[in-house]
Amino acid sequence: MRRPIIAGNWKMNLLPGQAVALVDDLWGMISGQGSVEVVVCPPFMDIPAVSEMIGSGKMDIGLAAQNMHWEESGAFTGEVSPTMLLKFGVTHVIIGHSERRQFFGETDQGVNRKVRSALEHGLVPIMCVGETLKQREAGDTENVIVNQVKCGLFEADSARANGMVIAYEPLWAIGTGKAATALDAEEVISLVRRTVSETLNAETADRIRIQYGGSVNPDNISEFMSQQDIDGALVGGASLKAEDFAKIVRFS
Ligand code: PGA
Repeated sequence: MRRPIIAGNWKMNLLPGQAVALVDDLWGMISGQGSVEVVVCPPFMDIPAVSEMIGSGKMDIGLAAQNMHWEESGAFTGEVSPTMLLKFGVTHVIIGHSERRQFFGETDQGVNRKVRSALEHGLVPIMCVGETLKQREAGDTENVIVNQVKCGLFEADSARANGMVIAYEPLWAIGTGKAATALDAEEVISLVRRTVSETLNAETADRIRIQYGGSVNPDNISEFMSQQDIDGALVGGASLKAEDFAKIVRFS
């Protein structure tokens, strides 16, 4: 059985004080539930404060960065390394979010270097894949997704990859209020699982957790979670409100 994982991607929102208050409110609503792994993904500048809050409150909440560089140090102005993240208690890292691919020129090759580096450093990568509306309408979804998964996992250590997460986020569903249907999401996510099996192996494909992301809210979460291959959600907008995110975590 794969343990569901629900992650809240705060994107470039919340100052440290607001971030800490959100985590505090959230914990008040979800402490005691243990069936779902819960992760928050604050902006880099909020990570120290949130990390301290989670540690001092002994909260069972994972802490993710929204991006990282693959090297440990060097002449990479503006970047943050995996060892820096580990110093602040970061446990997970989003890699290749569509906003990074679209607005910051991230490539499948870069995503692959980051995924392998995260795995080597003991961070759980949440690798994002997804097609644009144009690609979907042209019937290219399958090609795009298979290619992103294959490139992203190229030469990844399969034993380490067992613990990683993939998020399927169709670009047309992100921040639009127009979520994919649970059946459409399931169809692509089972394709992702088959592709993991071909790229790495069947055991990894069986153990890896695959999330759906794109306009997830308290009303549609249970439909996604009832699908066989969907193991959780990557939540943007709704993760900024403690009540909504707590309802998503307590989907059952
Ligand atoms: P959304 O964002 O839930 O606001 O659609 C999801 C994401 O970008 O991870």
